Amino acid sequence: MTPHSPLQVAVGGAHPYSITIGPGLLADGQALAACVRGRHVLLVSDSGVAPLYLAKLRAALQQVRPDLLVGEHVLPAGEASKTLAEFGRVIEALATLGATRDACVVALGGGVVGDLSGFAAACWMRGVDCVQVPTTLLAMVDSSVGGKTAVDIPAGKNLVGAFHPPRAVIADTLALSTLPARELRAGLAEVVKYGALGDATFFDWLQQHAGALLAGDSALLAEAIARSCAHKAAIVARDPFEKGERALLNLGHTFGHAIETEQGYSAPGREALNHGEAVAVGMLLAARLSTTLGMATAADEQRLRALLQALQLPVEIPAGLEPQALLGRMRLDKKNVAGRLRLVLWRGIGQAEVVPDVDEAAVLTVLEPR
Ligand code: NAD
Ligand code: GLY
Repeated sequence: MTPHSPLQVAVGGAHPYSITIGPGLLADGQALAACVRGRHVLLVSDSGVAPLYLAKLRAALQQVRPDLLVGEHVLPAGEASKTLAEFGRVIEALATLGATRDACVVALGGGVVGDLSGFAAACWMRGVDCVQVPTTLLAMVDSSVGGKTAVDIPAGKNLVGAFHPPRAVIADTLALSTLPARELRAGLAEVVKYGALGDATFFDWLQQHAGALLAGDSALLAEAIARSCAHKAAIVARDPFEKGERALLNLGHTFGHAIETEQGYSAPGREALNHGEAVAVGMLLAARLSTTLGMATAADEQRLRALLQALQLPVEIPAGLEPQALLGRMRLDKKNVAGRLRLVLWRGIGQAEVVPDVDEAAVLTVLEPR
């Protein structure tokens, strides 16, 4: 990756903050130090990220603020760690640190670390600051922004959580150079989501640059991150608590979460789709259902399939997952109202909409193996 100057995206609303995107930010303690109001900082990371970046971030912070009391908590990498038990361990780490109400939790890692740390920050003493330092593409374009925090339970993904906007997001694009190719692809699925749900021009741009993005072109990735964050920032500023349009950001997620829950949450050594891959499959299922319901053309579904395939993302439900079981999982989605399925579908590329009371029989047809 070659150096580029940092980009800034502002998130408005009642709790404004900035997203800074650029190379080398992990080694620059100024931005992080500027977010710390009190004396206590808990750095939370996972077993994949900590050996690469935790000491660097800690040293950068302490060089600027040697007075800080800094604790560390490292959890096992993988979705299987996004649990109430791990949440409890982060809370214990805050207690051990003696963190007061002006403490700051720093989430250094992907969406798992970000969601879990953010939830702990939301709960410790009824809410302390959380700075998101995303290290996956997925976390840079989605999970670090907007303040959704949560853990999974066996019954479903993200079912226990809180809205807790970060104090800041600091995304060091150099971290993407160590990201496994599979995780880069997973992040690209969430990038595609922004084009698919509301920006046909961005979708075209992604089609044009799919190969270079996949190859890790740093300037194009930085542009994709900034454009994705700008989309998310605009939506969450208008609808922070998902009373309306924010639900569109869940395109593909009701299907995707059902797949993730039904297969068992991914962990090192366990064959399972990760979140971004499940969202890729989920977006295509949403497009297929839209075609089935006569809302959109098969041509747009085909364009989405082609882009996901160009990005080497899966587009089919993994073998062995039962349609009825997946439907059962979908019934526990947070968007549902009065026990009726409420899904994000589309009229075509860039035109997603929330559809209430979707016919379960139609959903089953797209869940059947092809
Ligand atoms: P992840 O956090 O599990 O990270 C993926 C893997 O990459 C891990 O093994 C991690 O150790 C490794 N890794 C991370 N950064 C690395 C780096 N720079 N170099 C080398 N390895 C690195 O997965 P994810 O895809 O980042 O996040 C998925 C989670 O995000 C899911 O739990 C999902 O529900 C959540 N999510 C939340 C929101 C939200 O709005 N809060 C939005 C989207 C997704
Ligand atoms: N990732 C969906 C949202 O933040 O609303």
